[in-house]
Amino acid sequence: MRHIVITGGGTGIGRAIAEAFAGNGDQVVITGRRKHVLDETAEQLGPRVRAVAFDAADPHQVEAALRELPQRVDVLVNNAGGNTGIGAARPDGLAGLADAWRANFDANVLTTVLVTSALRPRLAAGGAVVSISSIAAHRGGSTSYGAAKAAVEAWNRTLAQQLGKDGITANVVAPGYIEDTEFFGGPIAAQKHEELIAQTANGRAGTPADIAAAIVFLASPAASHITAQTLHVNGGALAGR
Ligand SMILES: NC(=O)c1ccc[n+]([C@@H]2O[C@H](COP(=O)([O-])OP(=O)(O)OC[C@H]3O[C@@H](n4cnc5c(N)ncnc54)[C@H](OP(=O)(O)O)[C@@H]3O)[C@@H](O)[C@H]2O)c1
Repeated sequence: MRHIVITGGGTGIGRAIAEAFAGNGDQVVITGRRKHVLDETAEQLGPRVRAVAFDAADPHQVEAALRELPQRVDVLVNNAGGNTGIGAARPDGLAGLADAWRANFDANVLTTVLVTSALRPRLAAGGAVVSISSIAAHRGGSTSYGAAKAAVEAWNRTLAQQLGKDGITANVVAPGYIEDTEFFGGPIAAQKHEELIAQTANGRAGTPADIAAAIVFLASPAASHITAQTLHVNGGALAGR
């Protein structure tokens, strides 16, 4: 039986990833900051899913959470994150700008790097680390969020080199617009929704299940020779390379 850890697993994409792995018979731990959200999701997804609440951007909380995380981790999914600029006030001066950039760096880069580093000794040979980036890393328009996700992709290449000797893969999935998540902090405006769909080749929004399916594949033995890559899942909204 495999042990899976999914950060940000209480909502949206992370929840769908947890559902997919649990549905395949794996033992799943979901993490996030809001304990009540995690507990509710774990309850809904059934006995294979367990919740551990901590802030993945806080090194002390990550360290403390190790007590509750599995001793052996076959698959780590670094999904926690989001664009901290959405709904935030326009940064005030250089100090405000610095805070805004740090917030996206903390939410997307530190969550990923800290949890991976903490669990590194527990990653099982033949396992997989999959981190979530974004289409925003590959096109303009989102300033510090896109830059932070690009940093995750750059770091992943080094991670793949470090883990390769143990037969562990390290890949990134870069979603385009995915509906049914808390990413936009509330319902997305109808016009924005239509604009994002119009950018795709297949004429629809992505779903959390689309991302979960890609991650289940990357974490499977069939993908054991795929590492250091970014897989774009965006309905053709942007051609990957
Ligand atoms: N939805 C999209 O269109 C889209 C597109 C491209 C990429 N993405 C990426 O996909 C990933 C999942 O996002 P989503 O769309 O599913 O949105 P979401 O529903 O807001 O999920 C993000 C999850 O991350 C958790 N989280 C955030 N910061 C955290 C922290 N410091 N420590 C622990 N957990 C943290 C949140 O839980 P708590 O608030 O309880 O901590 C939440 O459950 C993110 O990395 C996001 O950037 C989303």
